[in-house]
Amino acid sequence: MEHILVTGGAGYIGSHAVKALLAAGHRVTALDDFRRGHMSPLELLSAGYPGRLDVVEGAVADADLVRTVLSNHDISAVMHFAALAYVAESVDKPIEYFQCNVTGLIALLAECARAGITRFIFSSSCSVYGDLPRDAMPVTEDSPRLPVSPYGWTKLMGEQLLAAHAHAEHRTGRDFACTFLRYFNVAGADSDGVLGEDHNPETHLIPRAIFAALGRAPAIDICGTDFPTPDGTAVRDFIHVEDLVDAHLLALERAQGRQVKRYNIAIGKPYSVREVLEAVARVTGKPVPSNTAPRRPGDPAVVYADASLAKRELSWSPRHSALDDIVASAFHWFEAHADGYRS
Ligand SMILES: NC(=O)c1ccc[n+]([C@@H]2O[C@H](COP(=O)([O-])OP(=O)(O)OC[C@H]3O[C@@H](n4cnc5c(N)ncnc54)[C@H](O)[C@@H]3O)[C@@H](O)[C@H]2O)c1
Repeated sequence: MEHILVTGGAGYIGSHAVKALLAAGHRVTALDDFRRGHMSPLELLSAGYPGRLDVVEGAVADADLVRTVLSNHDISAVMHFAALAYVAESVDKPIEYFQCNVTGLIALLAECARAGITRFIFSSSCSVYGDLPRDAMPVTEDSPRLPVSPYGWTKLMGEQLLAAHAHAEHRTGRDFACTFLRYFNVAGADSDGVLGEDHNPETHLIPRAIFAALGRAPAIDICGTDFPTPDGTAVRDFIHVEDLVDAHLLALERAQGRQVKRYNIAIGKPYSVREVLEAVARVTGKPVPSNTAPRRPGDPAVVYADASLAKRELSWSPRHSALDDIVASAFHWFEAHADGYRS
């Protein structure tokens, strides 16, 4: 049993990771400033795993707070989910994004170094690849990294910062193992029905399509119908949140010594936006009203993954490898929680 610091533990993916860590027998301290997250999932988890979850309210950039957290506990590793994570918003608010995602990480990492933390799992993103040509698909971990949004740049800079810190530590003979998990589009909910997705505003495709099918939104905007793709809509890859969290636990188990690892985490299949809407219609049994709208700034045409490295090196294997399964998991949560965590 270890004690893990989970930043952004009140968010969508972070809360699922907290649950999986607790279920695996670990202790968890969840640090979140609640700018986007929710207390209720952490309250539910705290009740389910008494005495093993501490919740600390504050920002990762608050060096004094992070120092206190790291010095008062026997924390052995960090999973860093805390970030601002909307591509289009990052185009309008780049300073906020760099401040939160880069300056925040610098402050957190400085305190981790001071406290002697030697294992760090970082939430990276497929947005580090940017808008590569179709013949560059599927992207591998070694594909060029040319982000096209401030959000993507913050994720790439996070990887570069961690790699530079790791190499500096290694040169002086110290261990520091960091793993960058490059998630593709994350969807779905906890199979026990406890946790789900509650973003406000919700910008992700699968939830927005489900809201349109359920009549909670008049229609979904298909942002861009003139991409150079077979049906003109953008092409993406997906991953179920539980499979993503499995990858985190495997990465944590294997993180040791002086390694710097990067893995794509995706089902490894391309789906156009129109194909996703068809999957939502199939699963919900309802039509998905849609409008066409201009492309969103920062959105690449096509990005899907070769995720074989994670399968080989982490022995990771996604349990939900069909898009319809992922959509069904998300649908069941949204159906049962009309008002998200307020339901
Ligand atoms: N959702 C996806 O499809 C997706 C895809 C690729 C990468 N990611 C990355 O995964 C991570 C989690 O994403 P999510 O969808 O769960 O987002 P989320 O917004 O649900 O969770 C992020 C959490 O971090 C907290 N937070 C933000 N900035 C903070 C700060 N400076 N200090 C402390 N807490 C802070 C928020 O309050 C929130 O609870 C992010 O790093 C995101 O960039 C997400």
